[in-house]
Amino acid sequence: MTHDDPKHIAIILDGNGRWATAQGKSRTEGHIEGARTLKKVVQMLKSKSLKVLSIFTFSTENWQRPKSEVAFLMNLPKRFKKDIDELAAQEDGIRVLFSGRKDRLSKENLKLIEHFESSSQNNTGLTVNVCLDYGFKDEMVHVVQSALKAVSENHLDIKSLTPDHLEDWLYQPELPPIDLLIRTGGEKRLSNFMLWQAAYAEIYFTDLYWPDFNQTVIEEAYHFYQSRDRRFGKV
Ligand code: FPP
Repeated sequence: MTHDDPKHIAIILDGNGRWATAQGKSRTEGHIEGARTLKKVVQMLKSKSLKVLSIFTFSTENWQRPKSEVAFLMNLPKRFKKDIDELAAQEDGIRVLFSGRKDRLSKENLKLIEHFESSSQNNTGLTVNVCLDYGFKDEMVHVVQSALKAVSENHLDIKSLTPDHLEDWLYQPELPPIDLLIRTGGEKRLSNFMLWQAAYAEIYFTDLYWPDFNQTVIEEAYHFYQSRDRRFGKV
């Protein structure tokens, strides 16, 4: 069965560390190469007229990594500022959004996020939803807190609560659901990533480490997606 191309792809980019180790390089070199790959992949997906790309760049659990690696990862937005600005400034430039907790990020990163989001907000190209200090369980807490607040302020009657109401309080309520979720690096798990949004996503796993991700895998993932019979619970 063939159907429309995916509108929203989400990627769990895994395997930077193992890619680096296999090349005799440091883990941080793996992350740099991973960020370079990300830039290339954004370009490739832009030309496929995808609407939204969500990427898992730092999870709520990643703070448990060695301090030096956390610091390195948290410095990537600054290190790649020029590249991100470039992608936003191109014709049909990308719109950048950030999803995740904001209370544990540095002032510098909060300022950068504000810069990327506001400078690209009117762009009509690919929307890149950067998930940073992101975990679905924390997003759910945010949803429940918002619901309880609405109830306590009499904007919502508990008995009339529907999934649509809850969706309004997700970090990015206006984004369409995920059609295709890709995980690199060989693991077959969702790791607390956008579980609501991925409720009906087709899931594509590849053993390739993220820095090796390329146009061929994108074509394979699209082909996999096209071959699925998406029934959404119907027969
Ligand atoms: C997983 O590899 C990847 C990450 C922890 C994310 C790295 C983020 C980027 C490359 C892009 C960030 C860019 C910006 C601008 C925010 P891993 O370390 O888990 O690999 P391993 O499983 O082999 O150890």
